[in-house]
Amino acid sequence: MATKKKNTEQGIDWNYSPSLESTSHLKLKKKYDLFIDGEWVKPSSGKYFKTVNPANEEVIAEIAYGNQEDVDKAVKAARKAYTDVWSIMPPAERAKYIFRIARLMQERARELAVAETLDAGKTIRESRDIDVPLACNYFFYYAGWADKLEYAFPNRKVESLGVAGQIIPWNFPLLMAAWKIAPALATGNTVVLKPAETTPLTALILAEIIEESGLPAGVVNIVTGHGDTGAAIVNHPDIDKIAFTGSTNVGKIIQKALAGTSKKLTLELGGKSANIIFDDAPIDQAVEGIVNGIFFNQGHVCCAGSRLYVQESVAELVIQKLKSRMDSLYLGNPLDKNTDIGAINSKEQLETIHKYIKIGKQEGAEMYQPKCSIPTKGFYCAPTLFINVAQSSVIAQEEIFGPVLTIQTFRTVDEVIQKANNSPFGLAAGVWTDKGSRIFNLSSKLRAGVIWANTYNKFDPTSPFGGYKESGFGREGGLHGLNSYVKLS
Ligand code: NAI
Ligand code: MG
Repeated sequence: MATKKKNTEQGIDWNYSPSLESTSHLKLKKKYDLFIDGEWVKPSSGKYFKTVNPANEEVIAEIAYGNQEDVDKAVKAARKAYTDVWSIMPPAERAKYIFRIARLMQERARELAVAETLDAGKTIRESRDIDVPLACNYFFYYAGWADKLEYAFPNRKVESLGVAGQIIPWNFPLLMAAWKIAPALATGNTVVLKPAETTPLTALILAEIIEESGLPAGVVNIVTGHGDTGAAIVNHPDIDKIAFTGSTNVGKIIQKALAGTSKKLTLELGGKSANIIFDDAPIDQAVEGIVNGIFFNQGHVCCAGSRLYVQESVAELVIQKLKSRMDSLYLGNPLDKNTDIGAINSKEQLETIHKYIKIGKQEGAEMYQPKCSIPTKGFYCAPTLFINVAQSSVIAQEEIFGPVLTIQTFRTVDEVIQKANNSPFGLAAGVWTDKGSRIFNLSSKLRAGVIWANTYNKFDPTSPFGGYKESGFGREGGLHGLNSYVKLS
């Protein structure tokens, strides 16, 4: 596959040799069933769907298509496991299981990383160095909380909720499964989880790990399927809590569906996060932060720094450095360790991104894309910059979820705060400046759940994550993440 572009820095043509991660250690099944009550069971409809590798459009495996009947089976198993085993188990014993899952994930880390890259199209560098180690760390971290809940909530009585229904998206498939499952188990709840239809593989390998860990049957159930499978979970009467990460549209449907019920809900939805560069910022690092914030992982990040605000006096310099950095990005086979930008997750998502690029051009913004060769098979999108963008333009207001960055300039602090907050979303923001006081000023005035200073897209299990406004509510991670899975009195 002609995946690499020439790097012409300083006028010299040179290129890295291909460095493909081996897939030989990954033993995938041809067909995956549902993981319910500790067993692999066939879907009651008998239907399977295909999951493909978006980097080359090849089918990887067939996946069971769970329906309402299967969801009902899974909820029954989860309820029984909750009542008979998990909620009454001494918390320190629960912790040992969660810890064991984390250890087994570490042992199969290479397999998980390769499976994630094959199924999602994200670069091996990202799945190997970020997704998988972080997912393990969330399990380790929450294992530690299981027997310390009275310290998390002093002088309060802490009770688990019951059965949690969890629905996750395709941008961080394993990591989102960890964000959902680990705190639920630590607080004594049982789980029915549905991975996204384009990226079910790592959740199924996690189910194998859970099986191997000896976790009592029914404590975690994995039901694969499409949106209707997710809806069956949302609408099941015997579920006590729904945790959803995905699009704002589906989040709204879920919130409506749960209105008037006693189900607890957390939503982590879309974003259009502002990355703000002041004239005193370390410009080279900031450019690296911009690239990390929007181009790595193909912009498939809910908190992607997709709106760039640069102080006017350094705008020209930042844009020039950014273009030159974009010229040196490697787009292509996600399994190659040199690749910076892998494949877009699905054909539908690629079409969505193309639609927005077209709108951006129609709106009159100036577009820049480096001249890189796009593989003919698979779903790829060149990193794209839009300059001279109006605040009201569609590409500056709507979530694109691809490697597309808009640039606007500002003069004063008040102006940039006003512009950054002028968005229906509020998931994250980045601030680049040498001045500590300015960081504190902005972090208290920007209406975003996470604010990074002189860095971007950094995650840690001890730190809460979640949004303002249409980016959702509730927090995941850290002590705050426990709150979403307990009843306090
Ligand atoms: P989606 O919201 O449809 O999918 C997320 C999950 O929800 C999947 O597991 C899906 O099967 C499930 N789902 C779909 N309809 C459902 C329903 N009615 N009830 C319950 N579960 C349901 O996201 P999609 O269509 O894959 O992506 C569309 C857009 O959403 C993207 O272009 C992006 O802008 C945004 N998105 C945001 C994410 C985030 O992390 N904030 C993640 C994925 C997508
Ligand atoms: Mg796939």
